[in-house]
Amino acid sequence: MSKKTLKFPESFEFAIADADLQVIGEKYCLEKESSEPTMWKHFAENSGKVHNNSTPDQGVNRYELWKEDIEILKKLGVKSYRTSVSMSRTLKQDGSVNKKAINWYRKYFKALNDEGINVFVTLYHWELPNYLHEEGGWKNRATTDVFEKHAEVVVKELGDLIEEYFILNEPWCSSILSYFLGVHAPGETDLTSGLKASHNLLLAQGKAFRKIKSLSSNAKVSTVVNLEKYYPASTSEKDILSAKYANSHFNDWFLMPMYLGKYPQLALDLYGDDIPECPEEDMEDIKIGSEMHALGINNYLGRFVKWDEKDRLHFKQVELEGGLHNDLGWVISVPPVYPNTLTDILHETYNTYRTLGLDRMYITENGTAEKSDWDGQSDVIDDPKRQFYYQEHIRQVYDAILKGVPVEKYFAWTLMDNYEWAEGYRPESCFGMIHVDRDSMKRVWKRSAIWYKDVIKNNEVTV
Ligand code: FCB
Repeated sequence: MSKKTLKFPESFEFAIADADLQVIGEKYCLEKESSEPTMWKHFAENSGKVHNNSTPDQGVNRYELWKEDIEILKKLGVKSYRTSVSMSRTLKQDGSVNKKAINWYRKYFKALNDEGINVFVTLYHWELPNYLHEEGGWKNRATTDVFEKHAEVVVKELGDLIEEYFILNEPWCSSILSYFLGVHAPGETDLTSGLKASHNLLLAQGKAFRKIKSLSSNAKVSTVVNLEKYYPASTSEKDILSAKYANSHFNDWFLMPMYLGKYPQLALDLYGDDIPECPEEDMEDIKIGSEMHALGINNYLGRFVKWDEKDRLHFKQVELEGGLHNDLGWVISVPPVYPNTLTDILHETYNTYRTLGLDRMYITENGTAEKSDWDGQSDVIDDPKRQFYYQEHIRQVYDAILKGVPVEKYFAWTLMDNYEWAEGYRPESCFGMIHVDRDSMKRVWKRSAIWYKDVIKNNEVTV
């Protein structure tokens, strides 16, 4: 097939993302700025649910190597960079501001700005301090007050260096995956707890939004959700219903309260008696959709599901025969076996929420895991599957724009191989365009980074 070059609109921007706890090297923060230990460190050390029990202690040692990493961002040519500011670092348990941490962020963000790189900050990319976890974590409403305080500190201490804010990262993961499915910290397995956590996260988000706006009325404030399109595996009524449940549970449970001030009825029916108390008066605080600058969407795949009587949520993922997989075993949902799942979820989300104020969308994460093998010598590492993944998904973003979906930015996940949560530092879980040698911390470019540099420069992709 002949190749096509897809030229993106001038207003569109290609960028890159990472997150504090995955890269910083927690031990440096603990040692040098007496930050609060995180829930993830505690979870990795104690639960047995993290690959090799690896902790975020090492990360990529961004703490000390930040100058080198800014050089990499410069070479890549990005003008926008998404990272997070950790509430385990900004605030001490006694409520005071951790000045040493603030100073670190200030020097890092200032140096980025000096190079013409705009900083997009996520306020919560899962960096809960362990002391809050011990008080119930996101199940405890009081956590929302501490988070609001964190948002205030970030605006007051760092706001002059920040281009835009994202409040949360993937609340489905920090609630359902963490308190119901038991995969992420704190590894609990109770549906009511997961739903309670989701409500408190949405509430924390609303409170932080209003706090930021009250301190800086022109601030551009958005949030980041992980959305996935769920398709029925057959035309049977039950399978169709299971896909509706899955979409309601995964997508609308977080979007509808933000845009409509209500939880979706389908999910409420599905959860039944497991629903915790969610005070009605919180919904006003939670409803921030139409006031948000944009909606950030993280997407890695789309799924087919069928009815499962035994599953608490009544759906079970099925894989289509002949589909591709990444090195973590995640399906790569691209044609010809899969539909254009990213285009579909963008289109559907926009059409559902546009009349409720959704008018700007960003892809805040998209990428794939491919095993990083470095021979210890080469200057460049080949990662052909990553480039293929990006091409296919960027094409899908382009198609969504052609359909009228207002996508304005694309943040690739991620700059460097890093701490991939429950996967630890497994070579198979490398999402980076830059390899990091685990012993020497040496950074080595992969072929996909060289390719992405041209994408950024020319604002186009050849597929
Ligand atoms: C997302 C997370 C991000 C990274 C990617 C692979 O769910 O937001 O931190 O782990 O998955």
